[in-house]
Amino acid sequence: MEKQRLDKIIASTGRWSRREVKELARRGLVMVDGLAIRGVEEKFDPAVSEITVNGETLCYRRYTWLMLNKPAGYLSATEDGRGKTVLDLLPQELRRLELFPVGRLDKDTEGLLLLTNDGVLAHNLLSPKRHVDKVYYARTAGRLTEEDCRAFAQGLLLNDGLACRPAGLELLSVGEESEVLVTLREGKFHQVKRMLAARGAPVLYLERVQMGNLPLDRALPRGSFRFLTEEEIAELRSLV
Ligand code: URA
Repeated sequence: MEKQRLDKIIASTGRWSRREVKELARRGLVMVDGLAIRGVEEKFDPAVSEITVNGETLCYRRYTWLMLNKPAGYLSATEDGRGKTVLDLLPQELRRLELFPVGRLDKDTEGLLLLTNDGVLAHNLLSPKRHVDKVYYARTAGRLTEEDCRAFAQGLLLNDGLACRPAGLELLSVGEESEVLVTLREGKFHQVKRMLAARGAPVLYLERVQMGNLPLDRALPRGSFRFLTEEEIAELRSLV
């Protein structure tokens, strides 16, 4: 890996801003291979050198992966003149990392949204060819039946011409309103809403609850995020 400025390496973890790194280094709390380094502009190879900050060994990652529990009201975009984006939910030091959402959730959709700066893995996870399931919980108006499940499994042809690939529909509860889980391997514009509307069950509420084998972390309050663990990133890689 090529050498990079020490403050850039440390700030890329999202834990400290460059200004904080400079201050910690001034106090002798930034060490590289056992030596206190006071000049944060010095360059090192993070794959080779052991960097410690305030006694903690840095776990350097080339890419950052976050799981966000998206609330309604935020756009899945990096910038948009029309309103708040999911990046507005991140602290300043993480916004510098050029993160982007892995796929889009509608403004009113909640739940699991991954953010990363790893363009290749993100692209592969979204490709229908890679067969990565995305699971959505939906509450709908109208009564869905086993016949709707069979129609989803066969692949719906929507009135607007969209031919959907075979998808999963699991009924959780049915009545005046229904609760279902929808599993898709593609992600066309408003796809879950369009598919359910085509079966006479317009969506009242939508939440993404799983991507591949990564479930939404229920310990994450709506609107907050956490870093993916090394194991979770490895699992995502193994899917593609
Ligand atoms: N399908 C939709 O209709 N909306 C979303 O936000 C995601 C999938």
